[in-house]
Amino acid sequence: MDCFDPFIFFLLLIRLQASGQAPGDNGGWGLESSLSDEGRCNVDIRDVNSITHAEFIHEYAYTKPVILRDITDNAKFRLLCTKTNLLREYSDKRVRLSTANTHSYRKVDVQFKDFVKFLLNPQSEDTLGSDTLYFFGDNNFTEWHSLFEKYKAPPYHLPYTSPAYSFGIAGPGTGVPFHWHGPGYSEVIYGRKRWFLYPPDEAPEFHPNHTTLSWVTHSYPNLELWNRPLECTIRPGEVLYFPDRWWHATLNLDTSVFISTFLG
Ligand SMILES: *[C@@H]1O[C@H](CO)[C@@H](O)[C@H](O)[C@H]1NC(C)=O
Ligand SMILES: *[C@@H]1O[C@H](CO)[C@@H](O)[C@H](O)[C@H]1NC(C)=O
Repeated sequence: MDCFDPFIFFLLLIRLQASGQAPGDNGGWGLESSLSDEGRCNVDIRDVNSITHAEFIHEYAYTKPVILRDITDNAKFRLLCTKTNLLREYSDKRVRLSTANTHSYRKVDVQFKDFVKFLLNPQSEDTLGSDTLYFFGDNNFTEWHSLFEKYKAPPYHLPYTSPAYSFGIAGPGTGVPFHWHGPGYSEVIYGRKRWFLYPPDEAPEFHPNHTTLSWVTHSYPNLELWNRPLECTIRPGEVLYFPDRWWHATLNLDTSVFISTFLG
């Protein structure tokens, strides 16, 4: 589906302006190879004026995903995450990459500048997830502390959990195929990230070494209507909450900078 939808494009312009970014500004991370297909959104979206902490706990925390819009202002953190700023601060630091399959086995350490220069590429549809190196999590909190301390995590805590951050950057078409773990939040700082979710007792059919892009292209179109996932694209200023053990797969539509807050 390679269609240009002027309506969606118009909405995108509005949202970028609303979040204080110039249209087309992606923090210098580029928008050349962005995917245009957005699809539908059937996840609840609540903004800061339409939900309280008590409602979040009651309606979503243990029940279903929700997107929280404009719940925190991360404009300062966003500025620190431009390509120029991150390269200035972290060029020579080593980052740990994992293969992008369901059971990420292989880890590879590279210098941040080499990751940005050689590995932050658009994903082609036939590359295996198990052959793709993905930068997300495994962050050295000593080295990245001064950045992470500027991040404002979503304010709604779950009882008996403590938050832990995972930070990442990835190219258009990349993503992590279906997997599950404990509850948490995912926020995009730059770029758009598309989400596909299934409840814990409705495991989707997928190949653990194939990418989300391949699943979206080959498996998704054959799904019966009743078997379609919850899905939505999140943009800067939006945070997706996923409850405990929900299956999820992600697809970065642009070169994306993102941070998750896992509630373990
Ligand atoms: C994290 O960074 C510090 C400071 O550069 C370094 O001493 C430490 O070995 C690193 N930790 C890991 C697990 O790589
Ligand atoms: C997935 O890839 C890993 C690493 O290459 C391999 O060991 C494993 O057998 C593969 N799994 C399947 C189901 O093909």
